[in-house]
Amino acid sequence: MIPGARELFVLDPAMAHLNHGSFGSVPTPVREARFRLLDEYDGNPMRMVTGDLSERTAAARIALAHFLGAKPELCALVGNVTLGTAIVLNSIDFQQGDEVVITDHSYNAVTLAVQDLGTRHGVKVVVAPVELGSGDAQTIDAIMAHVGDRTRLVIVDEISSATAQRHPVAAIADALRARDVPLMVDAAHTPGMLHRPLAGIDADFWMGNLHKWAFAPAGTAILQVSQRWHDRMTPLAVSHAQPSGFPSHIEHQGTRDFTVWLAAPTGLSLFDRFGEQTIQRHNEELAAYGQRVIGQALGLTPQELPHPGPGVSMRIIPLPEGRAVDQTSAIALRQRIADDLRCEVALNPFRDRAYLRVSAQIYNSEAEYDRLADGLPALLREAA
Ligand SMILES: Cc1ncc(COP(=O)(O)O)c(C=O)c1O
Repeated sequence: MIPGARELFVLDPAMAHLNHGSFGSVPTPVREARFRLLDEYDGNPMRMVTGDLSERTAAARIALAHFLGAKPELCALVGNVTLGTAIVLNSIDFQQGDEVVITDHSYNAVTLAVQDLGTRHGVKVVVAPVELGSGDAQTIDAIMAHVGDRTRLVIVDEISSATAQRHPVAAIADALRARDVPLMVDAAHTPGMLHRPLAGIDADFWMGNLHKWAFAPAGTAILQVSQRWHDRMTPLAVSHAQPSGFPSHIEHQGTRDFTVWLAAPTGLSLFDRFGEQTIQRHNEELAAYGQRVIGQALGLTPQELPHPGPGVSMRIIPLPEGRAVDQTSAIALRQRIADDLRCEVALNPFRDRAYLRVSAQIYNSEAEYDRLADGLPALLREAA
């Protein structure tokens, strides 16, 4: 735990919150900034909306983009990666027989969105299997082997959800550009977890949630779109801002709650307060600790514990074979861990095995992972 960090969160003290990765957690200074903005809006919506809201939204976008190492003029604020995905898919003129390549680590909602394209436009979904623990070259080869003449888009998770695996998206972007195939990077977990993730990458589309690891209120994400796509971007709804084009027509979609975006830069102040490097190193090391003690408790060797790649503050632990391998039993087991051990974790099947995922954030301590490690073997025996 980073000294002084736990006090900044209103998280239920009865639980060990070892699943920051799913929804993040909003620190008190950010909540207070948002409450002040809500007071301002509810006090006089007319004044706020017809005043300098556009400039304030742009200022928030620019601050978040700088933090990510992005080019602000290429960025739009969106609600989340699910919506960002929908906007990107809506902006590509798919034809019957086109192919979209994803990996088998793809986030379920994104996979379903691509499958929906299949149903509506006759697009074929091609799934590239990427082995757990693959090196960069192996991952690139596994993806490129599935790219062909009909490929209209490739989608790769920078850090996957169920498997917490980091993929070399900058190198994949380069390999795909050489083939003239667009890449969409699902970087839902990247903002705040990795330092300036957009500094060294030229992907057609990149989107990341600020509400997971960058302490923003829920509903804050950045979509970076390469200049070559700006004229083709097609928002999900046509709004007053349609004639203004990118990014206004994506950001201004009728009446909505802008306070989350305006409060989001306050979350970045935590990186100044504690040090970005300190936070990221703390989280990476603590997640590794959690994986180690839980793995040991389950009798796993270090070789059986997947390494996520550098800088990742989530780790997975394989559960005994045959346990929770379908979504329903995975949800039931996760709930039992929450109820009996008072630990919030993520738990997902991947191929023929279920994996428990622990996250680490500045408010977590080693004792919380120890508690899970102490209780989990007996719980798994009882639940068998
Ligand atoms: C890899 C990945 N992609 C996309 C999403 C979707 O994010 P959101 O629910 O904010 O749209 C998540 C959420 O956990 C994720 O982990």
